[in-house]
Amino acid sequence: MRSDSSPSRIVVLASGGGSNLGALLAHLDALGDARRADVVLVASDRREAGALGRARERGIAAESLASPAEGDALVRLLDAHGVDLVVLAGYLKLVPADVVRRFHGRMLNVHPALLPAFGGAGMYGRRVHEAVLEAGARVSGVTVHFVSEDYDRGPIAAQWPVPVLPGDTAESLAERVLRAEHAIFPRVVQAVAAGLVRLADDGRVHGSAYVLADAPFAPPDDTR
Ligand code: GRF
Repeated sequence: MRSDSSPSRIVVLASGGGSNLGALLAHLDALGDARRADVVLVASDRREAGALGRARERGIAAESLASPAEGDALVRLLDAHGVDLVVLAGYLKLVPADVVRRFHGRMLNVHPALLPAFGGAGMYGRRVHEAVLEAGARVSGVTVHFVSEDYDRGPIAAQWPVPVLPGDTAESLAERVLRAEHAIFPRVVQAVAAGLVRLADDGRVHGSAYVLADAPFAPPDDTR
């Protein structure tokens, strides 16, 4: 991701409590010198977002975005912090198209279902899990994808299934999926920052990351 050997500089955009931010920070801490990414900025469309509080506690720059729909202002902010990689973690606003283009192949989103199902405009938070239950799907999951101008349609970097269990409510399913997000998302961010997973010129995601080891369904040993 960077031409020198220093960790990639990451911005996390979040609208809510920032549990995915917390999981990312914990994972990078645990990697220590092996980490390929540092979170240098957290920004939110909501002044009161818990994610901003988490950032401040860690001494990470925290900004609330006065006009999230204005691409110029966002690009200026990201440039001022020397951002290499943009990470959307529970960010509910549409990222302006000029920012998406500028960070082509360098912007990731985590979605709490297996895309391309149960995605698109308005499909976020509880609504995703309600739709999964309404459809009678037996499996949901987590998708991490590169962001494109089409909502929730960008090239998929990683996915992991999560079972839908009898008696599930939107809350219980959301909780199970969120645990998987926390396991997978930080590992994909590290893999992309390390250049192990990348969006190639052919529009496809190349490379692979061993992101599965701590996920709810453990894979056979020989795939780790
Ligand atoms: C959840 O809706 C999750 O599925 C989605 O973001 C929300 C979690 O937000 N990806 P946060 O990371 O706790 O702020």
